[in-house]
Amino acid sequence: MRAPCSDLPLVLDDVSLRAGSTTLLKRVSLTILPGAPTLIIGPNGAGKTSLLRLCMGLTAPSSGRISWGGRGNRAPGRRAILFQRPVMLRRTTAANIAYALAQAGIPRQQRARRVAALLQRVGLSELAQRPARRLSGGEAQRLALARALARDPEILLLDEPTANLDPAATRGVEEIILLAAQSGIKIVMASHDLGQLRRLAGEVIFMVRGALCERGPAKDFFDQPATPEAAAFLRGDLVI
Ligand SMILES: Nc1ncnc2c1ncn2[C@@H]1O[C@H](COP(=O)(O)OP(=O)(O)O)[C@@H](O)[C@H]1O
Ligand SMILES: [Mg+2]
Repeated sequence: MRAPCSDLPLVLDDVSLRAGSTTLLKRVSLTILPGAPTLIIGPNGAGKTSLLRLCMGLTAPSSGRISWGGRGNRAPGRRAILFQRPVMLRRTTAANIAYALAQAGIPRQQRARRVAALLQRVGLSELAQRPARRLSGGEAQRLALARALARDPEILLLDEPTANLDPAATRGVEEIILLAAQSGIKIVMASHDLGQLRRLAGEVIFMVRGALCERGPAKDFFDQPATPEAAAFLRGDLVI
């Protein structure tokens, strides 16, 4: 069941972000709607992480406006973010999820059942009692997904969650992401992996040097990139 107050659409209106004399994002306007996953792609340093942090409300824009479901209030709503390197509590896998549920305000008597369901959802039931810091990279990222899902998000922001994983672990994480998308969660995910883009994306936001360079359905992006930068990126050429 959805809370009456929605965080979608997520709207960035002429948003710029500066740190000192550096411009990290230049006049970005975009609207994120419910539906298939949105992948933010672009070379290192393009501004993907900065954009996700703004979308989460962790940083305020230097200029321009952001709104969630028509509200400009940055207070955490129904959204969750997953960083590239998750930090685990020095506890078991199950206890890490229980902690996230407690943080999300789930009453104590419901937590054990929810922990079991989330462990199953991310395929970690067998590892419930393993210290979280002993999990492999892929397992840790799946646990991080379980903790994010514990918040029952409407928007799930993911920052290159498979960047450090081998292909098998990458597929495991992608499966969970696809199931989350199918359950109605809006996925907004940064990646620089073209294979991942083909497997997951409904639409693509292509960033170069802090600016939104191209945006559209993933299929169009692959078939007919509209800019020389996108064409070069698709060829695997260095775009900086
Ligand atoms: N707080 C900061 N101060 C100055 N420069 C920053 C800061 N954060 C990020 N940057 C720079 O801004 C650019 C965009 O960074 P980032 O959003 O992390 O890009 P991406 O995630 O696409 O690699 C990079 O060149 C990065 O080094
Ligand atoms: Mg980044």
